[in-house]
Amino acid sequence: MSKIGIIGGGNMGSAILAGIGRKFTVRVCEQDARRAGLLKRRFGVKAADLATVAAGSRIIILAVKPQNFDEVLGRLRGRVRQDQLIISIAAGITCRYIEQRSGQRIRVVRAMPNLPAQVGEAVTGICPGKFATSADVKTARQIFNCIGKTVIVDERLMDAITAVSGSGPGYIFYFAECLEKAARSMGLSPTMARELVTQTLKGSARLLERSGEGADVLRGRVTSKGGTTQAALAVLQKHKMGKILQQALAAAKKRAKELSK
Ligand SMILES: NC(=O)c1ccc[n+]([C@@H]2O[C@H](COP(=O)([O-])OP(=O)(O)OC[C@H]3O[C@@H](n4cnc5c(N)ncnc54)[C@H](OP(=O)(O)O)[C@@H]3O)[C@@H](O)[C@H]2O)c1
Repeated sequence: MSKIGIIGGGNMGSAILAGIGRKFTVRVCEQDARRAGLLKRRFGVKAADLATVAAGSRIIILAVKPQNFDEVLGRLRGRVRQDQLIISIAAGITCRYIEQRSGQRIRVVRAMPNLPAQVGEAVTGICPGKFATSADVKTARQIFNCIGKTVIVDERLMDAITAVSGSGPGYIFYFAECLEKAARSMGLSPTMARELVTQTLKGSARLLERSGEGADVLRGRVTSKGGTTQAALAVLQKHKMGKILQQALAAAKKRAKELSK
């Protein structure tokens, strides 16, 4: 059992805690007393101060917002040792930035999970920093496999990962929102619209995952010539949904690059 310290027990920190709590010994540093109390009640984890968590953990997971990141790095400077691994999930903060501010040849791994971590269904992009070893990447993979699936990438692809899966749940929720609205406009109750849309998304994702077939093949299977699905798809294609999504993802990737340091 490794001792893992999580700095920041918010949305993501607590989702990671929920996933790894049984497999690893975990400590948390959370500045918000109400949240700290919640973590204690829900997971039995007592919050400790940053110095205690930093000193006593083999792996330190940085799960604070990018705007709190410099403050945390500043407080960790001089406290982090080379026998420790830093894992950062902060959007846009590069491994190099953390290495330089730590002031030593610190082993850093960067990870980009997504919100379905809260139900154990995240997908996390992972990339190693300059001084991280392949064992460190393996360790990070073990941790994030506890909250879903993982992919290993080069850091230059992290902005693309952010655009596709990091921000991805936002697009899917927007899609669900639009479908529900359209369903309600056809006379279905809000409850029924929610159930129909949620189960259709869930069932389609599961089929895509389990069938081993591409989305295009599965789409073909529900699209009979002259039928209802074809009528709807013709509208989506006329309005160039593919192109719109390409532009949306390009905008997210550009923004990730602008925000990165
Ligand atoms: N949410 C996502 O979908 C998602 C996806 C991928 C990556 N991420 C990354 O995950 C990180 C965390 O995001 P989040 O949504 O979990 O944020 P969050 O809910 O705001 O959680 C961060 C927590 O850390 C606390 N905190 C701030 N500074 C601290 C300090 N010095 N010591 C101890 N605790 C401190 C915050 O307390 P206060 O509220 O008092 O500041 C807050 O409770 C971000 O860097 C984000 O880029 C998030």
